[in-house]
Amino acid sequence: MTTVTSKATGRNAAIVSRLDTPNDLSQEGRAAIADAVNELTADAFALYLKTKNFHWHMSGSHYRDYHLLLDEQGDQIFAMTDVLAERVRKLGFTTIRSIGHIGRLQTISDDDRDFVSPLDSLTELMNDNKSFAAAQRRAHQVCDEHGDVATTSLLEVFIDETERRIWFLYETTTGGEHTS
Ligand SMILES: [Fe+2]
Repeated sequence: MTTVTSKATGRNAAIVSRLDTPNDLSQEGRAAIADAVNELTADAFALYLKTKNFHWHMSGSHYRDYHLLLDEQGDQIFAMTDVLAERVRKLGFTTIRSIGHIGRLQTISDDDRDFVSPLDSLTELMNDNKSFAAAQRRAHQVCDEHGDVATTSLLEVFIDETERRIWFLYETTTGGEHTS
């Protein structure tokens, strides 16, 4: 079995001959898209677990609201992972294989601190979601350049969902105390 590392970046995606799903988009384009989408998938797993981390370790007088908000956001993020990974397979490339693989690709950092205050937890997640939205827009551009309408369409929905998470986290962290 021959493994061909992505020509576009030489980094993350690979074609394995037995798993080379036929697709009429160029191989170079599909390689670039696979790299971008695999990185998004790794970040979705990282952000999912971080959101659940803060869900599990939430504290304080707004515990119930914050705990439930993060559960809802975690479910939404987790739902992206299968869709993104399967896009890469439809393009004929391989995708995430393990927690270790996620660790090598993720750009969203873990937070293993013993205690993070409620406000700091929500603010950190808001900033992570902002970075994630920016990464999704960059991936969208890669897909657009190579004519991958299906992935751009999915990303448009995921970007909207990410912006909704940012919105809710922003409003929650301001505590209703807008000055204007
Ligand atoms: Fe839970």
